[in-house]
Amino acid sequence: MTSPAPGTVCVLGAGGFIGSHLSEGLLRAGRRVVGVDRESAKVEHLLGNPAFDFRRFDVRDAAQVNRAVADAAAVVNLASLCNPSLYSTRGLEVVESNYLAALPAIRACRERGRPLVQFSTCEVYGRTLASYLPEGSPAREDPSLWVLSEESTPLVLGPVDRTRWSYAAAKQLLERVIVAEGKERGLRWSIVRPFNFLGARMDYLPGVEGEGTPRVLACFLAALLRGEPLPLVDGGQARRCFTAVEDAVDATIRILDRPGPANGLVFNVGNPANETTIADLAVRMIRAWEEATGDRWAHGTRSVPAAEFYGEGYEDSDRRVPDIARARKVLGWEPRLPLDQVLRAVVGDAVRVHGARLPG
Ligand code: UGA
Repeated sequence: MTSPAPGTVCVLGAGGFIGSHLSEGLLRAGRRVVGVDRESAKVEHLLGNPAFDFRRFDVRDAAQVNRAVADAAAVVNLASLCNPSLYSTRGLEVVESNYLAALPAIRACRERGRPLVQFSTCEVYGRTLASYLPEGSPAREDPSLWVLSEESTPLVLGPVDRTRWSYAAAKQLLERVIVAEGKERGLRWSIVRPFNFLGARMDYLPGVEGEGTPRVLACFLAALLRGEPLPLVDGGQARRCFTAVEDAVDATIRILDRPGPANGLVFNVGNPANETTIADLAVRMIRAWEEATGDRWAHGTRSVPAAEFYGEGYEDSDRRVPDIARARKVLGWEPRLPLDQVLRAVVGDAVRVHGARLPG
């Protein structure tokens, strides 16, 4: 078996939002990257870099995955369909992409002795225990019922007819397979549970760069650029801890730099200081748009029922606040970028590229 160049990282899903930022970060840190994806639009700017070996194939192709893993010293698997608008409408593809399609990489890492960093999701936590208590119940304030800890929080998904949870269930099963591979067959692994990463190149502008419903940042950007009210699903009362993708890349590289201490651990990667409601995210994005354009926003927001926006079977995660004590201790990691700074950069760029108004 030939040894790969030390420091070479195989990034499966390098052409996606996180993968493109991680590839950039690794190259900046002097690493070589074997980047795998079916698409290259988000990494066009890296294709001429001699340290970026881009290979265009589908991660379900076990033979090609095996070769890419063999050519690297460590593997990060990001390949995934991870957009909530697909969970209820294309459930089979979502389960295939998030469970079955990840198995060849796990097998290759185990057989070739490469450490695997598998991206999972904060969505495996499902709904908080607090959300099952009556409104106004004082016990709802108890942080142990809503702060999400890798070690102690149970994973609470809804019934199977709430098809939104198919994605979380697939990722949860994947995590359990990885844990068992480590225990029974010696796979070296770490798992990342991302909490709503935000940044440039996230998803696509519907009607311009793709079709369908992307995640909330791109939905709101599209509404801002078209001069339409921002859609708040069920009034936008769900809460998220938005995390700058730059902070997330920093955490991931710290895991790769610490294969010993990070082995066999799940890491929450999120910024608890950036917690907000989706309605407040809309207010902040409108403010960023006003700063970028110098205009006053006159179109407001509108509430849309979840069943109308996503179709039947949608159920929301109410609140997702990560306990990041483990990432702080093992990785020496601290998320740094405040939400408004990220939003100003993303909204400002979109206004510069597309102008203040896209045709509706
Ligand atoms: C999604 C994925 O399921 C996770 O796996 C992924 O890790 C996560 O995004 C993430 O980015 O980390 P979710 O937070 O529900 O989970 O994704 P969004 O589509 O960004 O929705 C966030 C909230 O905004 C939800 O409450 C949704 O109902 C709401 N929303 C979305 C709106 O109010 N308006 C929109 O136009 C879009």
